[in-house]
Amino acid sequence: MSNGRIMQSDYMHWAKFKPPVRYPLTMSEVPHFRMDSLPIAIADLDLDGASHPRYPPLRQAIGARYGVPDDQVVATDGTSMANFLAMAALIAPGDEVLIEHPTYELLVGAASFLGAEIKRFERNPADAFRLDPSKVEEGMSDRTRLIVITNLHNPSSALAGEDELRRLGRLAAAAGARVLVDEVYLDFAAPPSASAVHLGAEFVVTNSLTKVYGLSGLRCGWILAQPDLAERMWRLNDLFGVNQAHPAERLACIAFEQIDTIVGDHPHLLAQNRNRWNAFVQSRTDLDCMAAEHGITAFPRWAGGDSERLDARLRERYDSAVVPGRWFEMPEHFRVGFGLPASEFEEALSRLEAALDELK
Ligand SMILES: Cc1ncc(COP(=O)(O)O)c(C=O)c1O
Repeated sequence: MSNGRIMQSDYMHWAKFKPPVRYPLTMSEVPHFRMDSLPIAIADLDLDGASHPRYPPLRQAIGARYGVPDDQVVATDGTSMANFLAMAALIAPGDEVLIEHPTYELLVGAASFLGAEIKRFERNPADAFRLDPSKVEEGMSDRTRLIVITNLHNPSSALAGEDELRRLGRLAAAAGARVLVDEVYLDFAAPPSASAVHLGAEFVVTNSLTKVYGLSGLRCGWILAQPDLAERMWRLNDLFGVNQAHPAERLACIAFEQIDTIVGDHPHLLAQNRNRWNAFVQSRTDLDCMAAEHGITAFPRWAGGDSERLDARLRERYDSAVVPGRWFEMPEHFRVGFGLPASEFEEALSRLEAALDELK
């Protein structure tokens, strides 16, 4: 902290440097896609064109995916920079920002770093972490400038419905605020769910080729916003990073052309692992978890108390791990990821079962 501002992400530090295990239940991204399975020539990575402002082919590829014009698209380094840049353009020090709880820690960190006054609204586990607009309304004041949510929700993977999102849009419009929707997990929704960018001018959405596509290393992210706001973000980004790595922009264009190949069989694998997880939860009296319908993560409550203990036991004896709930400000929960191949997921669950039994 410095002057009350958050100056680092302890969660990201933990995520980057925790010791690796053989059967991780910590993943929130599908396995990394191998770029050598795409038709790429070295000339595709040419640096020529690096000075082209706002690389048009990439903006067009992103815009085409959503059916929005290029002037609503801002390219960024991952959803991480998308969230930071969007917030930096939308809030001034002292502005009130209303953020869901629990949430992805870095959203709180970015708002704090920018000097926002942070308020929270609950996504209630007893209500399947549903986005409840009445909770948002209760948390708002005439100083609220931004409402922040994740959809799918990280950590629970709850999907926000169009009606709830529209109500948030109306609340924001009445207060002169905006709604930032981090949609990095939205393409995991089954059946597919449309982006909030189509729900009105109040919405600003962020996403990337990270979680669903296994391309986190490309750092291809984006913001979709109204043209005047998008322009403000591009201009602000000149202060931060000016341009992105041009070979990465070119690779991202190739990735968009091959997106179905890149998605591959993952939706099927995830559906299978979610079913297996649901059966596992039903067999246990010490876990309380809504049925997993979407996404790559679930966030059960454990009757055994602080889930640090569970993670420690998994690491010490079972070469496995979960994400302790303290990273989402709910220590009695833990996050499980479904991204492992089916047989490894099965093995990871039997190790989780053994650890849970031991700690009963
Ligand atoms: C909600 C959310 N947003 C953003 C990110 C980071 O995405 P990227 O790798 O595209 O920066 C994560 C990664 O865990 C996330 O969970």
